[in-house]
Formats: sequence, structure tokens, C-alpha cells
Amino acid sequence: MRTDVQSGAYQPRTISRQPKSSRKSKTDWTAYAAAYDLLSDYNPAYQELLEEFEGTLSGMDTPRLIYDIGGGTGNYSEIAARKFPESSVYLVEPDPGMTQRAREKLSAYDNVTYLDSPFQEFDPPAPADLVICVHSLYAMPDPESRLFDLRKLLRPGGTLFLIDLGRKLNIAEWRSYLFSHLTREVGIAKAIQIFWNGREIAKQNKAISKAQEEGAYWTHSESELAAAVEKAGFEVMTRKPAYRGYSDLLVCRAAS
Ligand SMILES: C[S@@+](CC[C@H](N)C(=O)[O-])C[C@H]1O[C@@H](n2cnc3c(N)ncnc32)[C@H](O)[C@@H]1O
Repeated sequence: MRTDVQSGAYQPRTISRQPKSSRKSKTDWTAYAAAYDLLSDYNPAYQELLEEFEGTLSGMDTPRLIYDIGGGTGNYSEIAARKFPESSVYLVEPDPGMTQRAREKLSAYDNVTYLDSPFQEFDPPAPADLVICVHSLYAMPDPESRLFDLRKLLRPGGTLFLIDLGRKLNIAEWRSYLFSHLTREVGIAKAIQIFWNGREIAKQNKAISKAQEEGAYWTHSESELAAAVEKAGFEVMTRKPAYRGYSDLLVCRAAS
């Protein structure tokens, strides 16, 4: 088990409140979808997560059946579909804007199936070898119960690749980090243009931050997430902070 700590990384605070299902999230995932892939194009922290995922796949036997839960615009499904062309990838994503982007981007892959249901209504065709759940658990109703549902998706010994946002998003801190990075990489004029094009991302991240503050979205520490995952029937193989300390990355094996 790894418990790496990013030295010098920003340490966002955890709000240890339980989600209140009576409060409604204000995140507009469809609006977010239109600008979402600026993250994979320009945010090095997001790119690092994709690299982590690809590295995890490199160490695995070919998974025949893969579910990507809350798969968004399909960035993780795309890596899995490319790496394992003989495997079946199911992208489970309830937002039509996100799914449309995924369908457009992944049109060259004939091993991806799109299911537009929320996870809590997903009826899996068979037990999977690999389940991917990145940055979507925190936004689901009753996330700790959803972890038990994730376990039920997998055959014993199957793998869960889980990344979850646990700490409150600090929008000003992210803005400063990204603006410094982009200014260095592409110059100030292009950085301003990217920020303008990505203004919907900032808007929706503010909504996420507010939902976290209100307790509508789950916030947790790395050890709280690991404990919840173990309680749901997983063995934690790898765990570490991710996304500049805002999130946690866990690679887990479904216990028998
Ligand atoms: C921040 S995006 C992450 C997308 C993708 N996994 C990625 O990392 O690029 C969160 C996604 O979770 C999805 N989501 C929210 N509630 C969900 C639910 N109940 N079931 C499945 N997906 C959900 C949203 O529609 C959105 O696409």
C-alpha cells in the first residue's frame, strides 16, 4: 500500500460533513461538457491522472469487460478502448452533453457502448474485470452506498480504479496555478484566451465547491475514503493523494 505525500503541494482542507440528500447540486454537467476537454488539453494535473490510469492498465491482464462509471466525455474509456481493442467498454454517463462529446470523440472505437443512466439505475449485463470511477462518486447520491454497488459490478479479484474529489475546491488557488502554468507554457495572450474559452469550467467548479460547502457533495480525507472502500468489500492495493492533493487515487481489488 502506498501513502505518498506530495511534498510542497497545496493542502486543501477537508470538510467532514455528510452529504444531505435534501440539498440539490447546482452543477450543470451539460454546460460543463462543452468546455470539459480543455482539462485534458491544458491542465497538467488532469493529464497526470490519465497517465496514472494508463500506467495502471499496463500492469494488468487484459480485462474483458470494463465499466466506466460517470465517464463524462470518455477520456478514460478512450484509453481503455485503445489499449484493449478486444475488450468491451461500457461508458455509463447520465448527462447528454457529456455523452454526446464522448460519442463524437470515440466514434472510431467499435468496442465502446454508451449507457445514459445514472449509476444507481445501471443494470450491469455481467460482472466486470475492471471498473473505472473517476471524479464522479462524490457527486452521486449516498456515495458510501454506491461503493457497495461498485463492488457488485466486479467479479471477485476484479479491479476498481477509483479517483474521488475529497477536499473543497479552492477556485482562486486553481486559477492561480493554471494561469502561472499556461503563461509559462504558451505565453500570456494565449493563456488569457484559454481562460476565456474555459470560463464555463470555472463557473461549474464554483458550483461544485458550493455543493461541497453545503454538504450536497461528499468530502473526505484519503483515509476516510480508504476505510469506506474496505467496508464495501475491497482490498486497497494502492492509495495516494492525487489532483494536487484535492483528490484520492485508489486501486482496489474486489475481495472474494
Ligand atoms: C467531473 S466529471 C468526471 C468525468 C470523467 N470521469 C473524467 O474524469 O473525465 C463527473 C461526471 O459524473 C457524472 N455523474 C454525476 N452524477 C452521476 C451519477 N449519479 N451516476 C453516474 N454519473 C454521474 C456527471 O454527469 C459527470 O459527467
